[in-house]
Amino acid sequence: MSIIDEIRSKSSALNKKIVLPEPQDERILKATEELIKSKICRVALIGEESVIRKDAAAAKACIDGAEIISVNDPRYVDSFAKKYYELRKSKGVTEAQAAEAMKNTIFFAAMMVAEGLADGYVAGSIATTGDTLRPAIQIIKTAPGIKTVSSYFLMVVPDKSFGVNGSLIFADCAVVPEPTAEQLAEIAVCSAINCRKLLGVEPRVAMLSFSTKGSATSPSLDKVIEATELVKKNYPDIIIDGEIQFDAAIVPGVGIKKAPGSPLEGKANVLIFPDLNAGNIAYKAVQRLANAEAIGPVVQGTARPINDLSRGCSVSDIVSTVAITALAT
Ligand code: ACO
Repeated sequence: MSIIDEIRSKSSALNKKIVLPEPQDERILKATEELIKSKICRVALIGEESVIRKDAAAAKACIDGAEIISVNDPRYVDSFAKKYYELRKSKGVTEAQAAEAMKNTIFFAAMMVAEGLADGYVAGSIATTGDTLRPAIQIIKTAPGIKTVSSYFLMVVPDKSFGVNGSLIFADCAVVPEPTAEQLAEIAVCSAINCRKLLGVEPRVAMLSFSTKGSATSPSLDKVIEATELVKKNYPDIIIDGEIQFDAAIVPGVGIKKAPGSPLEGKANVLIFPDLNAGNIAYKAVQRLANAEAIGPVVQGTARPINDLSRGCSVSDIVSTVAITALAT
């Protein structure tokens, strides 16, 4: 069974409710049919019922069993606007602006999740990454002890000798452009926790750089070294090493030469990149050159799970991302 089939099957046992706030996209309607048919989770679509049903018929998507909720639903319209106003008034948001924000289906979805009316949301087939994440950052907020929302990719490479039978976690490849040392440490910790959850193994975290254990000196290495120390100090149970080069992190023969005594032993399964340039380039390079499957970006660090789709996503990508979201709850 592939890792993604395993995720789909594990999530179906949980019967979670995931909100999809972009039902105007026919891929979302087709994914809804698949999610309900495969019993991966319950689905709530945000929008006007008559419009959604008409679009579903046109797309030949059977959405029977999906809940449909309007942003004008009298059960929520005033209370959601009031709650959003309370959350954002210190930032200058007025009551009128709060009511307007709640007409946005992604903000509405975020409020549903924050209020416990659903377990998570998935958007981004139409909205940008920023517009998908901002409602979660403002309304759902970060998990206890975490200040930074970030993301990871589950990379599945054909060579099964790497990572966990070919599966590795890459982070952050999509959210935080220039992480500080503290943010880099949080990205490492969240990714380690997700490695346990998703891959079912102990994380071995490599804090990547162009230098291995002092082989080069540059101010740009300082934050990687500092982040590694922060994780070691605050999470002594996590196996971590850095700064370390990519090859020394994942090839035992190179690891023993360049980083003798490293707890990673050239067998890292969680790879943390120093910034978004490095992470984003690396995941795309591995995806294309090694013919790897890239599942993500999976958002991490929020108090409840939410996820961002690529605007080029397929129906199958949406189903997998929703399954990962349901599993993360
Ligand atoms: N975690 C937690 N809080 C955050 C984060 C974060 N990563 N980023 C911003 N914030 C908070 C700020 O503290 C601030 O809070 P406040 O309003 O309560 O004071 C608020 O969010 C706004 O901060 P800004 O710096 O103005 O952030 P902005 O809203 O402009 O953007 C965002 C934040 C959306 C996460 C941005 O960094 C972003 O768009 N990242 C995505 C980068 C991207 O485009 N990636 C595409 C590649 S995807 C791919 O290839 C698969």
